Amino acid sequence: MRIQLKSLDEIRLMREAGLVLSAILDEICAAAKPGVSTWELDRIARAGIEKHRVKSLFLGYASPPYPAVLCTSINEVIVHGIPRKNEVIKDGDIIGIDFGIGKQGFCADSARTIMVGEVSPEKKKLVETTREALNAAIDMCRIGNRIGDIGSAVQKYAEERGYSVVRQFVGHGIGQRMHEEPAVPNFGAPNEGKRLKRGLVIAVEPMVNAGAPDVELLDDGWTAVTKDRRLSAHFEHTIAILDEGPWVLTRASSTPGNPGND
Ligand code: MF3
Ligand code: CO
Repeated sequence: MRIQLKSLDEIRLMREAGLVLSAILDEICAAAKPGVSTWELDRIARAGIEKHRVKSLFLGYASPPYPAVLCTSINEVIVHGIPRKNEVIKDGDIIGIDFGIGKQGFCADSARTIMVGEVSPEKKKLVETTREALNAAIDMCRIGNRIGDIGSAVQKYAEERGYSVVRQFVGHGIGQRMHEEPAVPNFGAPNEGKRLKRGLVIAVEPMVNAGAPDVELLDDGWTAVTKDRRLSAHFEHTIAILDEGPWVLTRASSTPGNPGND
């Protein structure tokens, strides 16, 4: 399917989905304490979905069908970790929490990596760098810029600090479906790729590794870990491109043209 540009009314519906998603993510993150299982986090997400009468975008997705509403990716897990009863959060863990919902026919997709308790300086630096790499990318989400400007902003920010960016998974257009065109890689060159137009909505999701960029898929068919088993972090926001600049639909503090802050 071609790139689907959205009207302002459609973007306002996506903002509603984004705000609900952000509120549920707040609850999940607040509950992520040592001794709590990732299964319990998935349960909290399911309760939020019911309370707000929204739909999960992840449950049953693809093949093998994704079995949960959340992805919980601890330490060396890059993305798509499956919540499990016997996976218990420990002090010092970093956990990527990825969540997607549909509301009134429109999707929102967002991820955060949280630091549990006392984390090592090494972990903290990786997480902060990934968060700021996404912020650098958000600042590129302006009419007239290109897809390559987004990827290159992430890549430059991460690599200048000694990290690598994952190439096997990319961001994506988003709207009535979770995955739309265009693909939004976290690498690339400035001034390359498609131009960003008014009404384009994309999910930008840098995955930054402490070591090499290589990915290994575990036997469950979903869990993606770093091949060298070093740390990885992931942040994602759903962003609308408007005349005023970026509107970060999954960030409560953002307004049209003002990215706000996490
Ligand atoms: N944010 C991820 C993505 O854009 C989440 C997908 S998880 C899945 O693909 F379970 F739905 F696959
Ligand atoms: Co996504």
